[in-house]
Amino acid sequence: MELIQKTVGIVGTGAMGRGIAQIAAQAGSLVKLMDAQAGAADKAHAAIAAQWDRLVEKGRLEAATAAKFKTRLVIAGALSDLADCDLVIEAIVERLDVKKVLFAELEDIVSTQAILASNTSSLSVTAIAAALKHPERFAGYHFFNPVPLMKVVEVIAGLKTSPAVCSALSQYAVQMGHTPVHAQDTPGFIVNHAGRGYGTEALRIVSEGVADFATIDRILRDQAGFKLGPFELMDLTALDVSHPVMESIYHQYYEEARYRPSVITAQRLAGGILGRKTGEGFYRYADGVLQLPT
Ligand code: NAI
Repeated sequence: MELIQKTVGIVGTGAMGRGIAQIAAQAGSLVKLMDAQAGAADKAHAAIAAQWDRLVEKGRLEAATAAKFKTRLVIAGALSDLADCDLVIEAIVERLDVKKVLFAELEDIVSTQAILASNTSSLSVTAIAAALKHPERFAGYHFFNPVPLMKVVEVIAGLKTSPAVCSALSQYAVQMGHTPVHAQDTPGFIVNHAGRGYGTEALRIVSEGVADFATIDRILRDQAGFKLGPFELMDLTALDVSHPVMESIYHQYYEEARYRPSVITAQRLAGGILGRKTGEGFYRYADGVLQLPT
């Protein structure tokens, strides 16, 4: 099948943007990395290249293939460098106002045929699209962390999204080796909506003193068969990402009690105890690796 997105722009090259960039380049697209923070796109470029090098070292990727992948990653110094992109995927900060400004600017740069997509975890796709003159070209494209391993992506139609855009994004997801799942534009879509039951209730169990977080993780991981317990998952995602998602879903459902976020995560967020990326969350980490409690 012919590759449907030949040139792909990634705006925001943090944890998610670099994962999406990696699988897009592996699929055969030319990927342009753009980040507002000076040096961030270069850092992402180096991190993705290092991932491929590790796969070569482990014998899971041919050196020639890694070299070919690397030629498909380029740095875009400014949004205007994304003018020739067929698709631009945004993975910047989870703020509606900032995303709307970005997409309004992007729409004037890319061609009228280009598809625009957001990796938002919780914001309304319809609300982001309201910034666009052509909201039908915009959809949610929600990947999971770490992107190369989590092989599902939610394709979210806003109220004005064209079905052809969702179908192109789904087709491209398959070309990247992922499984697309269609979701309607609702708070948290499918996974983060269902995830409220997993994370919010686990936090309630702790705050009610029923069990400590490590026990809850152990049972859900080892006995119930989840890959990660809820607190391990929060540490991986980081509270500066997951707590605002909890708040956003709660507010979008008009403060429905079952979605109420926890003071436990609010306090930790305020204290900068975010998870793996800060070396300490519910657990302690050295170089991103879990340290057993002493
Ligand atoms: P991150 O903090 O690792 O990376 C965000 C990047 O965007 C940073 O490099 C920052 O410099 C850049 N940025 C911020 N504002 C910008 C702007 N206006 N223009 C260009 N670059 C800008 O964040 P992460 O975790 O990659 O999340 C990004 C998005 O993906 C958010 O919307 C988040 O809700 C969503 N998401 C996050 C998941 C996770 O587990 N971390 C999972 C699924 C979705």
